[in-house]
Amino acid sequence: MNRLVSNSIFMMIRASSSSSSMTFSISSSINGGSRILASGGVSSPETHPLSVLMTVFRRNMTSSPSSSLKERENKEIETLKERENKEIEKIKEKDDDSVVSSYWSIPRNEITKPDGTKWAWNCFMPWETYEADLSIDLTKHHVPKTFADKFACRTVKLLRIPTDIFFKRRYGCRAMMLETVAAVPGMVGGMLLHLRSVRRFEQSGGWIKALLEEAENERMHLMTMVELVQPRWYERLLVLVVQGIFFNCYFVLYLASPKLAHRVVGYLEEEAIHSYTEYLKDIESGAIENVRAPAIAIDYWRLPKDATLKDVITVIRADEAHHRDVNHFASDVHFQGRQLKEAPAPIGYR
Ligand SMILES: [Fe+2]
Ligand SMILES: [Fe+2]
Repeated sequence: MNRLVSNSIFMMIRASSSSSSMTFSISSSINGGSRILASGGVSSPETHPLSVLMTVFRRNMTSSPSSSLKERENKEIETLKERENKEIEKIKEKDDDSVVSSYWSIPRNEITKPDGTKWAWNCFMPWETYEADLSIDLTKHHVPKTFADKFACRTVKLLRIPTDIFFKRRYGCRAMMLETVAAVPGMVGGMLLHLRSVRRFEQSGGWIKALLEEAENERMHLMTMVELVQPRWYERLLVLVVQGIFFNCYFVLYLASPKLAHRVVGYLEEEAIHSYTEYLKDIESGAIENVRAPAIAIDYWRLPKDATLKDVITVIRADEAHHRDVNHFASDVHFQGRQLKEAPAPIGYR
């Protein structure tokens, strides 16, 4: 930023002999001055960057610069530079992570945890964290009644076969890969409802938020799992292919029949609960080491500091049960011939 301001000033001095380039130099300097003020600087009329620049401008226009005048100008420029450096230092002191760009600086306010320690995450904030509802019924199953229900249930059961063959009992890896898929439906549904709301000038009944919330929650599951299991190159490739296929298939399915789309996700979530239950069994039997919970999980689910992998899988499984209920509920609303906006969206389950 200081380089930009000094460049502007030097440009202006050079431009004093050319009236055509004078306007550009002044406007650039004005913007520079505004930036300093925006970053928290306090300037008196004498030391305001605009005042300094106007003084230099006037002198250049009225008289030829003498050596003493040049010295004074240089001094003023140095003062300006020093002051700007101080402003940058102030911002850096306030938040080491803030980015000071050439155009604007966006310092973040100090965010702390309830215990007073500094908040470590940029990807989510303390007010987005929650305690999972561990009292949720994990055994609930939507008994398929209609042809669409049976189709959805069978499709999910069929999809489970290649997953079982590929991952076997490598539940960490399995969970990580499946979360890359699980984070898609909420985003697709939320996006399509958003477009519908905008297109038809109508409210969504809170369902856009509910579905995007689900997508974000699933993505946080993935961010947690990736701390525990590092994907290999061929797994990354598999995610690329699967996401490309699944996103497009689900997009078309949601356009054609949101009732069926939500039912499919409801059954997928039932399978996710089953997978996480098996994961927990392996942790309890010692087949999988019950390592310490990743820091991101401790903060996101407000877990105790000594939380373990078992605690993390337990809260993730509770989330999946919630997604199951939300999606079966959404499908039921459609099944009754109603629109989602007519039923209150289950927002804020956290
Ligand atoms: Fe998940
Ligand atoms: Fe889920």
